[in-house]
Amino acid sequence: MNLFDVYPIYNIEPVKGENCYIIDKEGNKYLDFYGGNAVISIGHNHPYYINKITDQLQKISFYSNSVIISLQTELATKLGRISGYENYNLFLCNSGAEANENALKLASFHNGKHKVVSFKNAFHGRTDGTLAVTDNMIISAPINTREHVTFVSLNDITAVEDEIKKGDVTAVIIEGIQGLAGINCPDNNFLTELHSLCKKSGVVLILDEVQSGYGRTGKFFAHQYAGIEPDLITTAKGMGNGFPIAGVLINPEFKAQYGMLGTTFGGNHLACAAGIAVLDVFENESLVGNAYKIGNYFHECLANVEGINLIKGKGLMIGLEFTYPTGKLRNLLIEEKVFTGSSNNKNVLRILPPLTVNKSEVDLFISKLQKCLKKVEK
Ligand SMILES: Cc1ncc(COP(=O)(O)O)c(C=O)c1O
Repeated sequence: MNLFDVYPIYNIEPVKGENCYIIDKEGNKYLDFYGGNAVISIGHNHPYYINKITDQLQKISFYSNSVIISLQTELATKLGRISGYENYNLFLCNSGAEANENALKLASFHNGKHKVVSFKNAFHGRTDGTLAVTDNMIISAPINTREHVTFVSLNDITAVEDEIKKGDVTAVIIEGIQGLAGINCPDNNFLTELHSLCKKSGVVLILDEVQSGYGRTGKFFAHQYAGIEPDLITTAKGMGNGFPIAGVLINPEFKAQYGMLGTTFGGNHLACAAGIAVLDVFENESLVGNAYKIGNYFHECLANVEGINLIKGKGLMIGLEFTYPTGKLRNLLIEEKVFTGSSNNKNVLRILPPLTVNKSEVDLFISKLQKCLKKVEK
């Protein structure tokens, strides 16, 4: 059997990871400033993470959600404390799309409505409900209908208000920072206004922090720069450092009922062990603070690099916009043994290193970028 060929790939096979580096089977060492698509939060192969998962594997790795799994409570308690959402409840699942799917469903259960307001260029996943709120017709099949969804421009509060006035809106869904679109930040005042608009209209505000959450921006969640508390927050990528785990943080006003949500694999023992290890390392190594500090340093260094049109993002979620498509630049960076990410905006490179990154790795990236920019401009 062959693999279903849906991914354009580099001819590189990583066989080992070491913090901010990956090593391929020829022994080449790459600086990983893509973090496997914003997934690697505590660095590749962190010894504490390896020990926690190995230890758990030797005890019990899985049982269904029909028994007590106290690792789930331990994870929820730690996540509540570290994220500042101690009074929220947690639903555990397996992927970003699944978290968003459950958040949309929860919103509709909560207020009995069915329309959704989303934003132009948004990406929320590839399942039916999440595709409907994703602004990309190329990845939608005819079955993924979207009559109940309206897309408005990011930061346009009047447009959101107009849609809500039409009635039947259950939720507004928004990324903490639009990732795949090319690192577009909502303004803090826009988020504050959106939060009060949703509150006064009985519309659920869903913050998709799948990519922008888990310390990536220098706060635990990107929306915390605006000082708001959304009704539902979804999280995935950095949560398990590569082990599939995701979650919905749920305002206590939402009442749970048996059978309302569910999953076979969500919250299993191994996933929880991975999730707990990640949060322990976050605390032990002050990784959110590191993302803030190194993020600032990184932005300062980038400001001195000639040839970048615009530097976007916060902390270690960075978009570098050029006046030309970045495909060639990305390939040159690969030749220089540096991984970066593309985006739907062909002119934007996404930079998403592990949150453990240090100044010398940033310096190394900057020098390689400058070298590649000289070549690309020739
Ligand atoms: C903001 C955002 N939401 C949702 C998703 C979907 O997550 P997953 O691929 O884990 O389903 C992604 C994935 O890139 C994302 O960036």
